[in-house]
Amino acid sequence: MITKKSPAQIEKMRAAGAVVARCLKEIAENIEPGKTTTLDIDKMAEELIEKYKATSSFKNYRGYPNTVCVAVNEEVVHGIPNDRALMPGDIVGIDLGAIVDGWHGDSAITVAVGGKASAEAMRLLRVTREALYTGIEAARPGNRLSDIGHAIQSYVEKNGYSVVRDLVGHGIGRSMHEDPHVPNYGRPGKGVRLEEGMTLAIEPMVNIGSYEVETLGDSWTVVTRDGSLSAHFEHTVAIRKDGPDILTIVPAEEALNING
Ligand code: MF3
Ligand code: CO
Repeated sequence: MITKKSPAQIEKMRAAGAVVARCLKEIAENIEPGKTTTLDIDKMAEELIEKYKATSSFKNYRGYPNTVCVAVNEEVVHGIPNDRALMPGDIVGIDLGAIVDGWHGDSAITVAVGGKASAEAMRLLRVTREALYTGIEAARPGNRLSDIGHAIQSYVEKNGYSVVRDLVGHGIGRSMHEDPHVPNYGRPGKGVRLEEGMTLAIEPMVNIGSYEVETLGDSWTVVTRDGSLSAHFEHTVAIRKDGPDILTIVPAEEALNING
């Protein structure tokens, strides 16, 4: 069952979304190439979520042991933090969820460690981010659910990459995972009609090579089967009368650091 949210409930989700966005921003700004480990990122996330008086959506979710998922290079998603140091040119996906007042926000970014990676890796990051925004544009009343995935898949394949099939986005609200599943692929015009008040986490995972993935022996970490690089971007989005409303962003005045 898809639960629709009232405008007041959407504002509560925006509060959770803002916490998630601040955390991701501060983490990304504090990665030191050659030094920061993926467990350091987890520690930063834990401290930041506490600083913003929120709680983690991920910790202990179905036995997940940490606060964030960190996926390096050919890792797609759900990487468990460890003592691996991030090296210049690695690409690192950071996926973080937070709860404020009972409402969830969920977002992920992939960044180049040290600000730059190979030309191909940088292009993968750009195409994946743009694919997310293309999907978000389709999240509006009147469209159908599969229009989101169709927009994402078309954009990604036009750019020569592939979209992961085995993992999908999801509804989100009082629970991190609600109906419906939000695939990042598919034919247009299928599935439920999108309506005002639906809240979705849209999260394309894009591989340079084949779309096939496998899960490692830790039963969490998902990697590309062919070892090619993979990127992941995610936003929590509310469908409003006039179109998509992205909830996992830092308010503009805060991003600009007005009044310090
Ligand atoms: N953002 C992810 C998702 O939407 C990660 C959750 S996995 C967890 O599914 F186990 F860490 F919670
Ligand atoms: Co998600």
